[in-house]
Amino acid sequence: MLNVVIFGAPGSGKGTQSDLIIKEFGLDHISTGDVLRAEMKEGTELGKIADDYIVKGQLVPDELIIDMLAKVLDGKEGSKGVVFDGFPRTILQAEALKKMLNERGTDVTLMINLHVEEDELMNRLLERGKISGRSDDNIDTIKSRLDVYRLQIAPLAEYYMKEGKRYAVNGVGTIEEIFERIKEIINRYL
Ligand code: AP5
Ligand code: MG
Repeated sequence: MLNVVIFGAPGSGKGTQSDLIIKEFGLDHISTGDVLRAEMKEGTELGKIADDYIVKGQLVPDELIIDMLAKVLDGKEGSKGVVFDGFPRTILQAEALKKMLNERGTDVTLMINLHVEEDELMNRLLERGKISGRSDDNIDTIKSRLDVYRLQIAPLAEYYMKEGKRYAVNGVGTIEEIFERIKEIINRYL
C-alpha cells in the first residue's frame, strides 16, 4: 500500500492537495476533519462532543479520534493506499496509526509537510469562511487553530523526520504548482 500522511497548518491546502493525489494515484482519502463534520451534521454522540472542541479550535481528544479512525480504516480494506489528511496530529495518534497499519501488514510510506506562512493561512481561511459554513472559519477560531498547530501539532513533524519519511513542501503557489512538487516526491515510491 501507498500510505501518504498530508500534514500542515489549517489552510495549508491539505484537503485541496489530497483530492488531486487520490485521483492521480487511485488512493482513498481519510480526512478526520471531514469525518467529524459529518458526525456533527448527523448529530451523533461523537459529533456533539467534537463540536465543543472544533468551535474553539482545539484538538478533539486522542482516544475518540483513534477509535473513529480505526473504524473508517476497516471500511477501506483492499485499498491501494490511503491519504491521511489531518491525522495524525499528536504523537499518540502517530503511534496508533503505525500500530493499526502494521497490523494490516503495511505502514506510513511518506509524509508531506506543507509550509505556508500565517498571513497567507489567515487570508485563505477568512476567504473560505465566506462560503464554507464551517463553524471554525472565523477570525477568533482561526487564531486559536493556528496557535494549536504551532504549539501542539507542528512538533509531530520531528517524529516523521526521525523515521526518514518527512518531505517539506512549499505550499505557496498555484494549486497545480504545489501538486507538481508533491507528485515528484510520491513518484519516487512507485
Ligand atoms: P480539519 O478539517 O483537518 O481542518 P484544518 O487542519 O484546520 O485544515 P483545513 O481543512 O481548514 O485546511 P486544509 O489544510 O485542508 O486546506 P484547504 O485545502 O481546505 O480539522 C478541523 C478540526 O477538527 C480541528 O481544528 C480539530 O478540532 C478537529 N480534528 C480534526 N482532525 C483531528 C485529529 N486528528 N485530532 C484531533 N482533532 C482533530 O485550503 C484552504 C483554503 O485555501 C481553501 O479555500 C482552498 O481553496 C484555498 N487554497 C488551497 N490551496 C491554495 C493555494 N495554493 N493558493 C491559494 N488558495 C488555496
Ligand atoms: Mg481540510
